[in-house]
Amino acid sequence: RRVTVLMGGWSSEREVSLVSGAAVADGLRASGFAVTTVDVGPDPRLLIDRLDPRPDVVFNALHGRFGEDGCIQGLLDILGIPYTHSGVLASALAMNKAMAKQLFSEVSIPVAAHRVVSREEMAAGDPLPRPYVVKPVSEGSSVGVRIVRDDDEGVPVGIDSWPYGARVMVERFVPGRELTVAVMGDRPLAVTEITTKRGFYDYDAKYTSGGSLHVIPAAVSRAVYDEALEFAVRAHRVLGCRGVSRADFRYDGDELFILEVNTQPGMTPTSLVPEQAKYAGISFPQLVAWMVDKAEC
Ligand code: DAL
Ligand code: MG
Repeated sequence: RRVTVLMGGWSSEREVSLVSGAAVADGLRASGFAVTTVDVGPDPRLLIDRLDPRPDVVFNALHGRFGEDGCIQGLLDILGIPYTHSGVLASALAMNKAMAKQLFSEVSIPVAAHRVVSREEMAAGDPLPRPYVVKPVSEGSSVGVRIVRDDDEGVPVGIDSWPYGARVMVERFVPGRELTVAVMGDRPLAVTEITTKRGFYDYDAKYTSGGSLHVIPAAVSRAVYDEALEFAVRAHRVLGCRGVSRADFRYDGDELFILEVNTQPGMTPTSLVPEQAKYAGISFPQLVAWMVDKAEC
């Protein structure tokens, strides 16, 4: 079958997507698909041109704005081309951290105390007791994320020139450990713990080789391990996700808190989902072939 891989795109995670897309294309070729890759970033008109002649399936390897938030999904629905991963609504809900947190709470998955505030409120003083995390409402890969600690002075650096929209998500900083779970359909794959020397799993830690260490399976108690698996599946379901998603958690030694669900998780060689699939006995070519199989519109 003919598969077109959409990659690159318009978001701050463009570079990540190019790496995801290249890896996916190789994996699909190894599985016997006829693959075309399209960097949809430079000119939006290219996107329509390149989808004509129509592929049997689009593999969506985009991350972030327009690629992960329901926009491209809506366009592909209109064109009637089946695509991988979640549809319009699940994508839009997951991308908006405030909306997603409301839904997680409804199904009893703990979330850290949080508020969405304007930049002006933010500049006027701490919106939450310190330490807290400041993040864009709709971005990925830790782009724009800062931690405001007890001994930091004044308002967070750069909040006046904040480029990520009028509203800012502030969230209690949960001390402790970073865990993540990939969900493949109905099946949670594993729990990975991510450790980093920098003390924060930021953009560089995520994408620099050696920037972070992945421990799989995570060395937590059986009960916590199983609870993370269960929460990830519940989160995938409440958002209405399709195909593969990945839920990120903080664990303070006592309780798990969900941070978010990624509907377009990274597929780069250092990414967590391919690693968990491998751990579960699923090769990268098998993983991407399964995703194409689950494509819908
Ligand atoms: N937003 C990045 C790509 C991830 O979640 O893996
Ligand atoms: Mg994310």
